[in-house]
Amino acid sequence: MIEIRRLTKRYADGTTAVSNLSLTLGKKITGILGRNGAGKTTTLRILSTQMMPTSGTVRINGLDLVKDVDRIRGIIASIPQEAKVMGIASPMEHVSMYLNARGLEKDEIEGLAKGALKELNMWQVRDKPTADLSGGMKRKVFVAMAIASKAEIIFLDEPTTGLDPISRLEVWSAIKKLDCDTVITTHYMEEAKELADEVVLIDNGRCVAQGSVPELLKSFNGKVRVEGPTGKYKVGGMRISYLSAAEARKFVGKGYYTRPASLEDLLIVNGGGAIED
Ligand SMILES: Nc1ncnc2c1ncn2[C@@H]1O[C@H](COP(=O)(O)OP(=O)(O)OP(=O)(O)O)[C@@H](O)[C@H]1O
Ligand SMILES: [Mg+2]
Repeated sequence: MIEIRRLTKRYADGTTAVSNLSLTLGKKITGILGRNGAGKTTTLRILSTQMMPTSGTVRINGLDLVKDVDRIRGIIASIPQEAKVMGIASPMEHVSMYLNARGLEKDEIEGLAKGALKELNMWQVRDKPTADLSGGMKRKVFVAMAIASKAEIIFLDEPTTGLDPISRLEVWSAIKKLDCDTVITTHYMEEAKELADEVVLIDNGRCVAQGSVPELLKSFNGKVRVEGPTGKYKVGGMRISYLSAAEARKFVGKGYYTRPASLEDLLIVNGGGAIED
């Protein structure tokens, strides 16, 4: 359980990346969605103790983020968005060193590392220097470290960016199998739909929606998305509106396309689409 109260982060240049954010995260898998620059990474950096907030409080499984920082570090694991591998070390060495640093016993480390690397289909490359791995494989090294960690909560900042569709399925399956709670950011709507018990939508450092995917989609009241030359929201050169099925039918065949509202549409109506006058 993560309790975030009035959390604010202002960077040295004055950018307010997280603004008075209050959230309670208590589901097994939480998906954080939001546009580039919404404040997802900043929030995760704070929750994973890599950065101090400007103000506000966070409790993770009852522990205070500032006062109990060492204990929190013992129960969480995280993959930063921009994590870089140590080129000369192999995937096996990455996972083993990480587990060793977390204080796990040697006998246990071998089994956990093997399990994670096999699960992610990395067993054949386990001893190769990570510098010589493909981009997606490098990303999977971090996923292996996190899933092997035995942490109580893991934070994954865009863990599947750059992964092929099969690798993505392997990562999803590995995350679903974990006993721990997971907070994951993603730009892939199907990933959020597949994995997240609850989705949190962030815009401008604030939470603009929170709930399960079916709950959030109920806010459209059965309305469908209508795309075409005119509409309420502007996304690039496209205009989009949300209309009842009966209203939407009037536009069909006149240069408009309709489709059911999805998670992407939640982003559009919650700050993602500019509103047309
Ligand atoms: N070190 C920094 N100094 C100043 N501003 C920063 C810094 N890091 C991030 N920001 C700003 O904070 C805001 C939020 O950035 P953040 O990285 O948290 O977004 P994000 O939601 O993770 O985006 P993305 O989807 O692109 O990863 C942005 O306006 C960004 O430019
Ligand atoms: Mg980010």
